[in-house]
Amino acid sequence: MTLSESLPMTAPHAVDLAALPRDFLWGTATSAYQIEGAVDEDGRAPSIWDTFSRTPGAIDGGHTGDTACDHYHRWPEDIALMRELGTNAYRLSVAWPRVVPGGDGPVNPKGLDFYDRLVDGLLAAGIQPSVTLYHWDLPQALEDRGGWPVRDTAEHFASYAGLVAARLGDRVTQWATLNEPLCSAWIGHLEGRMAPGRTDLTAAVRASYHLLLGHGFAARAVRAAAPGARVGIVNNLSTVEAATSGEADLAAARRMDGHVNRWWLDPVHGRGFPSDMREVYGVDLPEQPGDLDTIAAPLDWIGLNYYFPQVVTADPDGPAPHARQIARPGVPRTGMDWEVDADGLETLIMRLHQEYGSAPVHITENGSSYPDTVAPDGTVHDPERTAYLTAHLAACARAARRGAPVAGYYAWSLLDNFEWAYGYDKRFGLVHVDYATQGRTVKSSGRHYAGIIAAHRAG
Ligand code: FCB
Repeated sequence: MTLSESLPMTAPHAVDLAALPRDFLWGTATSAYQIEGAVDEDGRAPSIWDTFSRTPGAIDGGHTGDTACDHYHRWPEDIALMRELGTNAYRLSVAWPRVVPGGDGPVNPKGLDFYDRLVDGLLAAGIQPSVTLYHWDLPQALEDRGGWPVRDTAEHFASYAGLVAARLGDRVTQWATLNEPLCSAWIGHLEGRMAPGRTDLTAAVRASYHLLLGHGFAARAVRAAAPGARVGIVNNLSTVEAATSGEADLAAARRMDGHVNRWWLDPVHGRGFPSDMREVYGVDLPEQPGDLDTIAAPLDWIGLNYYFPQVVTADPDGPAPHARQIARPGVPRTGMDWEVDADGLETLIMRLHQEYGSAPVHITENGSSYPDTVAPDGTVHDPERTAYLTAHLAACARAARRGAPVAGYYAWSLLDNFEWAYGYDKRFGLVHVDYATQGRTVKSSGRHYAGIIAAHRAG
């Protein structure tokens, strides 16, 4: 009996399931460094996250991804969990340093073999893989040669993308080039809170440019290697509002919108880089003829990761974009201290649809961290995550009802995992992981998700 068959069918009523297409993809998402472990097995070389997580003070608790969820060895069990949830899609990322340990140059066959087995296992379970080629784990060897601020990195990314597509493209159709390039560029190179931990505006702007260029090159390489490929990019977007109606705050909100939304959406939709933000950054872009066309490669779908809204105020002395988020009193927050606002997801889907005329939208990540505990009877009861999940699915359904092409939803995350600079203390999973034993327990939110999926399927 699957989980969903064991559930009363009362819970999902809050979501207008009839608004979602019959072939809606119900998924979960993870990324390589956050779950795989086995960092020095079968020829994998270090990534910038292996290096960063060893930097004293960089990660809460001094945690690393060395073991993580041990998914490299436990993937059959994890596929069985996806089946229990009733999902029909799974978003995973391929670790570049497993496949091309030096970043360019020789391929590591054992690295590719791992993803080959994983894809076969998913398909055998009736689960469609959606493969992200870059979820932040740049081979350290390329960082040592300059990393994303250097143009060559974009070229190497495309070579790696092409060879992964050549190997898996007979079975994988859904491809994403980059996950959240905003975090790679702004958090990794400007704020320094993520790998590679730099705080240099020029490097950050150059990284942002080469990430998007790498997206364009990789889109072309994937399509050349796998003609049936459907290629997209995954951005994390936020709604942005001014804290007050004063001119300084309104201008700050426009800058923050440029920084987190338009800088990433305009170029891939053929609009170039927003000129107001070029001025805010004041950094020359390393442009070469033809780049903007490359970056504006056709998108078969677009990925939206949504977690929280932003209400901002002017911060003239702070770093670009000279705006900062304020905490609104009385607004519910997750364990990450992120505000909960499901309406923001509907707003962003509608913006992609109406303002950008976007390709079909996949909610490639959405979820919440709360400090879960395992009850004496072994269950994990997480009503706040359940409420978050339901409210955001309801928002997707409202957008679909309003005509937006919402094609899938991937809950972040299948498993509790290594939450980057926050280590293992932040738990986002629908499945609880006991890191001492690697035991997995489906949380009540996971059971709820299974019920919603089953209700949609039955409808
Ligand atoms: C996103 C990341 C993902 C995870 C969630 C909580 O920004 O893409 O890896 O850490 O946040």
